[in-house]
Amino acid sequence: MKMKIPDYIRSIRPYKPGKPIEELEREYGVSGSVKLASNENPMGPSPAAVAAMKDAMEKLHRYPDGRGYELVQKLSAHLDVPAESIVLGNGSDEIIGMITRIFLAPGDEAIMTDPSFLMYDIMVRSCGADPVFVPLKSLFVDLDAIAGQVTDKTRIIFLNNPVNPTGTIITKRDFKAFLDKIPEDVAVVLDEAYIEFVKDPECLDGIGYTAGSRPVAVLRTFSKAYGLAGIRIGYGVMPPEMAELVHRVRQPFNANSLAQAGALAAIDDVGFLSRSLSLVQDELDFLYAGIERMGVNYFPTEANFFLIDVAADADEIFEAMLAEGVIVRSMASYGYPRYIRVTAGLRSENERFLKAFATVMGKENE
Ligand SMILES: Cc1ncc(COP(=O)(O)O)c(C=O)c1O
Repeated sequence: MKMKIPDYIRSIRPYKPGKPIEELEREYGVSGSVKLASNENPMGPSPAAVAAMKDAMEKLHRYPDGRGYELVQKLSAHLDVPAESIVLGNGSDEIIGMITRIFLAPGDEAIMTDPSFLMYDIMVRSCGADPVFVPLKSLFVDLDAIAGQVTDKTRIIFLNNPVNPTGTIITKRDFKAFLDKIPEDVAVVLDEAYIEFVKDPECLDGIGYTAGSRPVAVLRTFSKAYGLAGIRIGYGVMPPEMAELVHRVRQPFNANSLAQAGALAAIDDVGFLSRSLSLVQDELDFLYAGIERMGVNYFPTEANFFLIDVAADADEIFEAMLAEGVIVRSMASYGYPRYIRVTAGLRSENERFLKAFATVMGKENE
């Protein structure tokens, strides 16, 4: 088909989501399969959030509150930041897109780690700007190397903390030193999608940087620890002047009313959040122990997923795991051809993973 579209749109590699369970079962004729591929909350959504969303359904004939007054007020109190510094998104994905649109024109540059979350690359390219990739160093963000890549074309630096897919963190001290080296007009986007899972007290929490005079934005989501991935709700915290620009490019009703109601209730369900976090910790320990017994190497994480060095072609291991009814992620397309990424699931799911993994790797699963 003839279409006049810019070359930069053709340069976008489409995002490949984790395989849905239904698709796997159709293709492989297996049942009872498990998905440990998209870093979701295995416990499901908070029951309080589900109840709030059911109530909100009665009002689905109305448009949502465009700026999400109640949820924004709740977040403002929860995070101790001014309401004007909060922007809601249809997932934090959407906020990545809105920020790229306000900062990037064709020919500008945005720096990101390699690997990192694939949406940064996609959103940057869709503005006609150029992604600049800085390799991770032993799975950690190399802040010095990133600072070294800043040019007069740099408009945004994306930092992911903890990093997807490695689960490593950026420390408070390293970030402070880094920011001192970065020109004051370059936007620094701290994507903290997994921050709730972090245990290391040295880990950076970017919220404190959003009140200053620099364009620093923190992105968070209800998709991971809060268990609301399907309803799509995330938020950004940034200086009000920057938030105002994001509102200019925002669709008027981007955060839907069910999502707003669910998120509002999820924040109050502190018991659910703490049960989710302790389950993830216990299950990571369970998975680590099982993998250690097989004599296979893995990398401990600060998030709810971790990398395993399968010492073989990761795509082949991924395929073989599918045939066993277990969906993980091959890291080959992320530049780690020997690694797979696994999300901590429920105990039964993790048992199934260990059994399948032992079979595929030709190991004993005691
Ligand atoms: C690092 C990172 N940022 C953002 C997102 C997107 O989250 P959301 O569901 O809020 O769009 C994800 C989801 O996988 C992620 O891994």
